[in-house]
Amino acid sequence: MEKFELDKSLANEIRARVLGDGFMKIVQSVRRNGKTFRISMRPVLIGGEKRYQAEMNDDGHVQVKNLDAEGAAAGLEEMIAQKGARDLHLMTASGDLHVRVTKKGHVLASRSAEMAREATVRPHDRVKKLPLTSFDSAALLRVAGIADGDGRVRASMRGKYDQVNEFLKVVEDVLKDRKEHKLHVVDCGCGKAYLTLSLYFYLTQALGYSDVRVAGVDRREDVVRAAEKMAAELDVSDKVVFVARDLHDLESAADFGDGFSPDMAISLHACDTATDEAIARGVEWKCRYIVSAPYCQHELQKSVGGPNADAAFAGVLRHGILRERLCDILTDAFRAMILRVLGFKTQVVEFVSPDATARNILLRAEYGAKPGQAGPVSDYLNLRDYWHVTPWLETRLAARLEPHLKRYD
Ligand SMILES: C[S@@+](CC[C@H](N)C(=O)[O-])C[C@H]1O[C@@H](n2cnc3c(N)ncnc32)[C@H](O)[C@@H]1O
Repeated sequence: MEKFELDKSLANEIRARVLGDGFMKIVQSVRRNGKTFRISMRPVLIGGEKRYQAEMNDDGHVQVKNLDAEGAAAGLEEMIAQKGARDLHLMTASGDLHVRVTKKGHVLASRSAEMAREATVRPHDRVKKLPLTSFDSAALLRVAGIADGDGRVRASMRGKYDQVNEFLKVVEDVLKDRKEHKLHVVDCGCGKAYLTLSLYFYLTQALGYSDVRVAGVDRREDVVRAAEKMAAELDVSDKVVFVARDLHDLESAADFGDGFSPDMAISLHACDTATDEAIARGVEWKCRYIVSAPYCQHELQKSVGGPNADAAFAGVLRHGILRERLCDILTDAFRAMILRVLGFKTQVVEFVSPDATARNILLRAEYGAKPGQAGPVSDYLNLRDYWHVTPWLETRLAARLEPHLKRYD
């Protein structure tokens, strides 16, 4: 028997446990050249039939396959025949088997005490396919600092990783009817460019867009320079550019390079009125799509609840946190309504779980309706006049809104 090889009886025990009744899951991880390769398999029910779901994680690049019994047996033989140091953990209803093959080739096997677990084969719950696991994103995640050198998402980056994935899902959905393969996008308040770079790679590598340019804008010079370095390391500097500027000071889309014509404006947690500015820019650049997850906004809090406040709301506005939340809701409602007035079909959705961040609202808008329609206009005026406020976005887009903001009788 060669070093690193599992002896016959251990290999047979693994086969019997995996292919027999009560099998729950097998996971093998191998570390080679500083990289981790992990393969796992578990039984699932697909259309009432037992199958095996195999997941291969090659240094952060995940592939999932559903196998029949024959495919599972073949996959298992590959696991058993692996060479080198590795760990194998097998769970069955009657107990666990843990096999460790050390760097020197010693095979150590340990077994849990007998148990009587229930090993129900669960129906195939759609594999959670995330945008960032649907293509080879290992280099992107490492360079952006989302994943460590082993391809694992850093614990401190889990929240951002989830936000970016969910944001990309929304972008994909927004684009589902787009025929053109050209897409130029501006990420407003891009910060460390997690979304900016991820979007570029997702559009080109997973969604097949051929003419993609993405520009990230942030007023912080340091993050912009760092983002430029990442784009260079990923060899996409000609397609992903960064501009260190306050959004309010941008001049035109020409700031992003010759021939850049934005189709989409996005923002993820751009603070305060930067979200409004992102929306305003999207309107001015005649973007077809605007996707924006707002952050805090303080403007309305200053004007709501003054002498004009509806007395019925006194009990809400008295409490700082309730006042803040009410103003957040009103601000996002005004943003959505202004977009509707300007001819954008607009939805307000939750894009991540509220447990992950309280800032989990997202506005998605697509141009395509007639601007200034009576319904959206009167909805907007009714709410605005009820609160006796002028939302920041209305002031910002005054010239475009003015022709429409009249009451229809
Ligand atoms: C909370 S961070 C989010 C960054 C990034 N979108 C993300 O999700 O990781 C907000 C970013 O918006 C930028 N920002 C805020 N106001 C801005 C403005 N008026 N113009 C340009 N950038 C702005 C900040 O510098 C900061 O990097």
